[in-house]
Amino acid sequence: QILERQELEHSREGFSHFMIKEIQQQWETIPRAAAVERQQLEAMIKAINNANNVFITGAGAAFFIGEQIAAMLREIAGIFATPIPAYESESYLASIEPNDVLIAISQSGETADTLNFIEQAKRKRALVASVVNMPGAMLSRLSDFAFLSYAGPEVCVLSTKSSTSQLTFGYLLAKTVIHQYESAKVEIEQLIHQLSHYFNDENLQIIESLAQKITGDNVYLLGNRHFIGAGKIGALNIKEASYIHAEAFPAGELKHGVIALIEKGTPVICFMDETNATYMTAIASEVKARGGMIIGISQQPNELFDYMLKLPVTDNSASLITHIIPCQLLAYYLAIQRGHNPDKPRNLAKSVTVI
Ligand code: G6P
Repeated sequence: QILERQELEHSREGFSHFMIKEIQQQWETIPRAAAVERQQLEAMIKAINNANNVFITGAGAAFFIGEQIAAMLREIAGIFATPIPAYESESYLASIEPNDVLIAISQSGETADTLNFIEQAKRKRALVASVVNMPGAMLSRLSDFAFLSYAGPEVCVLSTKSSTSQLTFGYLLAKTVIHQYESAKVEIEQLIHQLSHYFNDENLQIIESLAQKITGDNVYLLGNRHFIGAGKIGALNIKEASYIHAEAFPAGELKHGVIALIEKGTPVICFMDETNATYMTAIASEVKARGGMIIGISQQPNELFDYMLKLPVTDNSASLITHIIPCQLLAYYLAIQRGHNPDKPRNLAKSVTVI
């Protein structure tokens, strides 16, 4: 039975690419990621409460997920965790003190930059907590608190289902700090119902036809608060799969420089929900006034949108785990549109085991 399961995980099962198969597996991988035990989280939170500093690290997609988890910890739990790209550890080592907590995010658990950073931090007697997808990885073995994200094998080089599993961990961690572990688990279970919204044929067709409209070489993504991280992860997905230059900015940067990039027809993805609709409408109207093409990733329509990718209307706050799914799908269809194999982007390896 185990062998059969493994064979299924490594087959495309009728999907044209692993990327689209793995995107659509998220309805089962997100609830699986919520299997993390409360006691284990509480032990880690005790260490966080004892620490002078909390840091969070990773490389590539895992680093952007780390930034997003840092935002969840700040906004939900009032905990400040400094995000550090693993390959920039040298600049931060002097700030690490004994009993500080370093949270490391990694799909493979074998990324050399990340392992190198945690080895250095351990020498400074910091405690390491890790969130790893592949069981038995070196990173887990070196950790004081080792969590698994249970996304199953991810064959596509791009991080899709492992990203949302890592975000699920982050959401549960932040909610456990404020003693809402049980209700967070219920919210995460309810997310499954929202996922059919993303994967129904009509939505897939809307995203596929939007991909045909994006013909230039640049895409910008704008959002604030929890959408800043979603934008960065989305931009990376688009770059890796389609080779289009995609760049995410905090929406507030627009007037401080980014606006110089907007020309007639420049595609600009604007993330909106009920928390930021007024603010983002003002931002989008500045883009529109310069001729930009506005793509709203939003719960509600807005007259400024040229195209809209709909987020489910919900008061389930765990839905911030899934805000990155429209960009995953857009990245997939942009790759197909341009004739690229999204499972094996040029020049990229699934995990980089050299420094
Ligand atoms: C490489 C891959 C990225 C991945 C990163 C970290 O750069 O191309 O897609 O996010 O490694 O990998 P990890 O296994 O540590 O998550």
